[in-house]
Amino acid sequence: MGEPSVDRARVPRHVGLILDGNGRWANARGLPRTAGHAQGEPALFDVIDGAIELGIEWLTAYVFSTENWARDETEVQFLMHFNIDLLRRRRDEMNAKGVRIHFIGEKDDPRVPDELREEIAIAERLTAANDTLHLVFAFNYGGRIELAAAARRLAADVAAGALEPDAVDEAAIAARLYLPEMPDPDLVIRSSGEQRTSNFLLWEAAYAEYVFSPVLWPDFDRRVLAECIVEYQQRERRFGGAEDAIG
Ligand code: IPE
Ligand code: IPE
Ligand code: MG
Repeated sequence: MGEPSVDRARVPRHVGLILDGNGRWANARGLPRTAGHAQGEPALFDVIDGAIELGIEWLTAYVFSTENWARDETEVQFLMHFNIDLLRRRRDEMNAKGVRIHFIGEKDDPRVPDELREEIAIAERLTAANDTLHLVFAFNYGGRIELAAAARRLAADVAAGALEPDAVDEAAIAARLYLPEMPDPDLVIRSSGEQRTSNFLLWEAAYAEYVFSPVLWPDFDRRVLAECIVEYQQRERRFGGAEDAIG
């Protein structure tokens, strides 16, 4: 079987990924949920290589939501340490590939271990000059908390007299999101068959196309990514306009 035929001239600039299905992948094998998270790592790194091959410029991976704290303490702790370990093991390889690492989310939350905050800073600093692929980890991320944080910054600027209330427009909000230079996602992919956003990039994905793949995240790879992009390329993006005139 050949590779899915992606039109290289119309590759989405920014792809958002909701990595889902790790727990179900593990359960189906009689393994603990954490084994599913561990198996999600090679899947993610294969997708990163695939994204580079395709010329995708931005890839955002939703790896921990502000709601995921509700999970068992052992699973949450596993995920915190897994992320520390993953950054240590993978940062040089990502740097060598020209990947620039970014984080969006509530990094300063006291529940986030200091060690993880330090590893995030090291990885961001190490890769700061790269631009082959911007890899954004949405960690302790929630779309609503991101908007609340932007509103707080706006309120502070208004209170300080630096901004008129009448000047609060879409651009003023967008400029106060976690990573203002990040372009809006063109495509958001969710694995595991679930069809919801679960609080991912609420503002930024206003006009994204959504592709829902039945594949559980640990089984995902660059080939499934390419299939999702082919599906995206069959869509007609309208941005509120009318259908292209026919005849
Ligand atoms: C996604 O897989 C990873 C995280 C949310 C951290 P899940 O852990 O949500 O897997 P399922 O949905 O239970 O199968
Ligand atoms: C969304 O997956 C969050 C991440 C992928 C990090 P969840 O598995 O947490 O979402 P729900 O609970 O099924 O909506
Ligand atoms: Mg899930």
